[in-house]
Amino acid sequence: MILSPSILAGDFTKLGDTIRMVNESQADWIHLDVMDGVFVPNISFGMPVIKSIRKNSNMIFDVHMMVTEPIRYIKDMADCGADLITVHVEACEDVDACLELIRSCGCKAGISINPHTSVDVLEPFLDMVDLVLIMSVQPGLGGQSYIEESTERIKQVKKMIDDSGLDILLEVDGGITNENVGVVKSAGADTIVAGSSVFKAQDIKKAIEDLRTL
Ligand code: DX5
Ligand code: ZN
Repeated sequence: MILSPSILAGDFTKLGDTIRMVNESQADWIHLDVMDGVFVPNISFGMPVIKSIRKNSNMIFDVHMMVTEPIRYIKDMADCGADLITVHVEACEDVDACLELIRSCGCKAGISINPHTSVDVLEPFLDMVDLVLIMSVQPGLGGQSYIEESTERIKQVKKMIDDSGLDILLEVDGGITNENVGVVKSAGADTIVAGSSVFKAQDIKKAIEDLRTL
């Protein structure tokens, strides 16, 4: 299992400490939630912040773009040190062009869908992606509860990926805790994002360890 802690739930006055802790933990990736205030109601952070973090970490940067027409920022995001860039199918006028651009910039490409988007929309893009991200909460805010219906959706997408015979990771993002990580994993997820359950914990390294071993 790949664990990708989302620093959105961290204390931004101590961003350096947060990154150091993640670097030294058993986490595999760092999940970076970029929000534009248009595709989702909130604004988080963007290129300058990611560029600074890059100087302090050699980990895989898993950039989740909750941004309308992300194609406008792919090249800049790659230049800032993104390794994997995930875009929302709902946010792109031309999904193919966006995914192609991500790969041509040397990054891995991911595609995401919101909780109420049919999983079927993913099918045409499977041969263009390295990862599918299933949102298990409405995007835009950390600390929400896992939407139970997501489990069935994870199973459906897992089957779709297996049937395709392609090598695609299945990531799940939103409301993941020690209590439900087992269910999410059994449903077929191999990559887990966790924000609040890691960064609101007393001992961040231990919270990461627990999520990995559960
Ligand atoms: C939500 C973000 C998530 C979020 C996860 O819009 O995409 O990555 O930070 O946070 P938790 O784990 O608190 O739901
Ligand atoms: Zn995210």
